[in-house]
Amino acid sequence: MRVLVAYASSTGFTKGIAEFVGERLREHGTQVDVQGVDSVKNLAGHDAFVIGSALYNQHWLKEAKSFVSNNRALLSTRPVWLFSSGPVGTKTTDAQGRDLSDVSGPKEIDELREAVKPRDHRVFFGGLDGSRLTGAIGFAYRMARRSQAARESMPEGDFRDWKEIESWANGIAEALPTVPA
Ligand SMILES: Cc1cc2nc3c(=O)[nH]c(=O)nc-3n(C[C@H](O)[C@H](O)[C@H](O)COP(=O)(O)O)c2cc1C
Repeated sequence: MRVLVAYASSTGFTKGIAEFVGERLREHGTQVDVQGVDSVKNLAGHDAFVIGSALYNQHWLKEAKSFVSNNRALLSTRPVWLFSSGPVGTKTTDAQGRDLSDVSGPKEIDELREAVKPRDHRVFFGGLDGSRLTGAIGFAYRMARRSQAARESMPEGDFRDWKEIESWANGIAEALPTVPA
């Protein structure tokens, strides 16, 4: 059994989640590769997949969307788990009282579900460090920071819930078919 944990991460928080999930799966005796979606060379050598992306403006990063759509033929024949790393802060609901895991994105979740029929999709809290944001995302961030409401709704810090991520990874390990490596 060989699992690929593939991620798209702009500032490293999602990469950290992917590496952590990979470590937990290894502890269960699974062979695991953890790679950025753009570095993946050999998909066919893997029996199951965990694919995650950071959320920006309620979307997965484009390289993660491309990875799924370019490889949907193979992915749809193997067990796949998806995760998104997004909400920041300590509140679990938005100003309207809606659960953040329902409203944070990704907007393309229906297409992703259709493409690879994932066993699960989970939204995890992520992290925010403005000093690591560059390019268009960094520009959007600096624009948004001008408003106090935005600064309050998107506080900087690391909000990843390792216990929750660990329990999700353990669930994956238990669900993986017991195929010899
Ligand atoms: C400009 C900007 C837009 C964001 N939009 C969202 C969003 O729509 N939904 C969400 O849950 N998180 C959003 N976030 C938070 C990031 O998804 C979060 O910080 C994530 O963990 C970063 O992962 P990365 O370090 O792997 O890029 C946004 C962050 C920035 C800076």
